Amino acid sequence: MDTHSTADLFNDDALQQPAGREQIGEQSYVFRGYALPWLERLLPELRAVLTQSPFRHMVTPGGFTMSAALSSCGELGWTTSRQGYRYSPIDPERQLPWPKLPDGLRELAITAAAAAGFDGFAPDACLINRYVPGARMSLHQDKNERDFSAPVVSVSLGLPAVFLFGGHQRSDKPRKISLFHGDVAVWGGVDRLRFHGVLPIKEGVHPRMGPQRINLTFRAAG
Ligand code: SIN
Ligand code: FE2
Repeated sequence: MDTHSTADLFNDDALQQPAGREQIGEQSYVFRGYALPWLERLLPELRAVLTQSPFRHMVTPGGFTMSAALSSCGELGWTTSRQGYRYSPIDPERQLPWPKLPDGLRELAITAAAAAGFDGFAPDACLINRYVPGARMSLHQDKNERDFSAPVVSVSLGLPAVFLFGGHQRSDKPRKISLFHGDVAVWGGVDRLRFHGVLPIKEGVHPRMGPQRINLTFRAAG
């Protein structure tokens, strides 16, 4: 093997697993690299959303400031405060509606949901999480949505993460799944209420996204 092809093995793409569908639960999948062809459309949309409703650190009902910074777009945004968790049509920081869910983001979410067997997904909320190295998300269930027949569609961008995919009890030992730039995870049906979380993000700088991971989760919340 010449030195050039050895170097190629260690370029950024080689760190990613090959494109394909990995089943991680009875009705849950990770689609490797699924969002990559959408990025030229998606990143400007995301930038516009974040210009309107920038990331902020929210406080949990228990009084802890979340290490991931949050924003939202769509008819409803997920918020947490000392008063509790809830979906709200209003961005509490600006006292204005959340930015609209951009068409590219919506289409990606609907297409990925269908690929996982969930036709007719109609997301009305997209939660945007920003993790800098060290930030994490502890095990939780997504259960503030009204209709659990719709799946959760999660798009990962930037630095890699170890996603914890647990069971229906907090104490069930979670499976560890690496999520890379462009991966899309979908969980729904019998897996819809499984506990999940993210281990602390490792130090690093992603060539496209910089020193951060951004995760988008689409839900039908209202
Ligand atoms: C979440 O559960 O809201 C985020 C999951 C992730 O960042 O991958
Ligand atoms: Fe979640």
